[in-house]
Amino acid sequence: MTRCRRILVTGGAGFIGSNYVRHTLAAHADVHVTNLDKLTYAGNLENLKDLEHDPRYEFALGDVSDATLVAHLLQEMNPDAIVNFAAETHVDRSLLGALPFIQTNVCGTLTLLEAARRCWSGREGEHRFVQISTDEVYGDLGDAGRFTEQSPLAPNNPYSASKASADLLCRAYFSTYGLPIVITRCSNNYGPYQFPEKLIPLMIYRASTDQPLPIYGDGSNVRDWIHVQDHCRAIDSVLSRGIPGEVYNIGANSELRNIDLVRRICTLLGRPETLIEFVRDRPGHDRRYAIDPTKLRRELGWAPQIPFAQGLEETVQWYCHNASWVQACLTGEYRHYYKQNYGGRSAQ
Ligand code: NAD
Ligand code: TYD
Repeated sequence: MTRCRRILVTGGAGFIGSNYVRHTLAAHADVHVTNLDKLTYAGNLENLKDLEHDPRYEFALGDVSDATLVAHLLQEMNPDAIVNFAAETHVDRSLLGALPFIQTNVCGTLTLLEAARRCWSGREGEHRFVQISTDEVYGDLGDAGRFTEQSPLAPNNPYSASKASADLLCRAYFSTYGLPIVITRCSNNYGPYQFPEKLIPLMIYRASTDQPLPIYGDGSNVRDWIHVQDHCRAIDSVLSRGIPGEVYNIGANSELRNIDLVRRICTLLGRPETLIEFVRDRPGHDRRYAIDPTKLRRELGWAPQIPFAQGLEETVQWYCHNASWVQACLTGEYRHYYKQNYGGRSAQ
């Protein structure tokens, strides 16, 4: 019998990480997952409650930038693969304070790279380090064209700058030490378990409770949406068949202006568009992101399966059926952040 593949997932208690842990355990009988998570405001063990007693899953509380803890964990579990989701992820929070973004996204990634290098050095077997990056490292796209893997890195906010820095460290660890790294850069995700500070869950929660819907600027900024399950399937392909040293863009060809997206949410919930309020724009707000996923399709045979209209409707239903999950996110910390971010942005 071949032994179980051991995967260290970091940030697995967050939105994409928890969907990925559930996906990989369901898709592969021979996988064991250890989830290292610091449980920041965005981490929530409720997201993985159904797996609590699964013998192929275990949780480890800790910080990816704690070198002693990470080295010890890697020594103990000797993972075949590391999938690094752990990050501070919200652009608006990075504008209020960049330091945690540097500590986790840059120093944390460096800590993992260094520990992986030491752990895997001289060890037999095929290893992989998958760095979960973002299309935001490419910065602002003009009205035409899409990001390819060759697009230059041009981040415009502290969040995307910290993710671009991590990508460059990964590249350096591949070139210098031959660490088997693959980088994925995905567009905006949506789906169940997304923290209600990001556009889609924020608008669903606020519209369903008849509160104003704050749209930055004139709402004409464009994002390219992908269902989180399609992202998870893409990560799976990259983990099993991606070539070390390569970057893979992930996207589902679903570009939409923010205003049109929020109008669709109002329609799905049967709420009036008069809830929409245009508020002061986000500084450095990238106008448009769009991903060209040709390489992933051509080389690894991946294709998205969930059409946006279907995925959005199911997501709205999920949030409506899980109102207590949303309520539990609305802590004092959340209210404080909301006031800090939106307090000074009166309706325009
Ligand atoms: P999230 O904010 O929902 O979750 C982040 C998780 O990381 C949380 O569980 C948090 O507790 C954990 N974490 C934070 N700091 C940590 C630390 N120092 N040590 C250990 N754990 C820590 O984020 P998400 O939306 O699920 O994003 C996951 C990854 O995917 C990130 O790297 C992000 O840059 C990338 N990404 C996100 C999107 C998107 O649309 N959400 C798109 C492309 C790429
Ligand atoms: P967000 O979900 O924060 O993702 P990102 O900034 O990483 O793309 O925001 C998506 C888009 O929605 C972005 O153009 C900013 C806009 N937005 C609003 O207009 N109002 C809001 O309250 C939020 C959170 C975002």
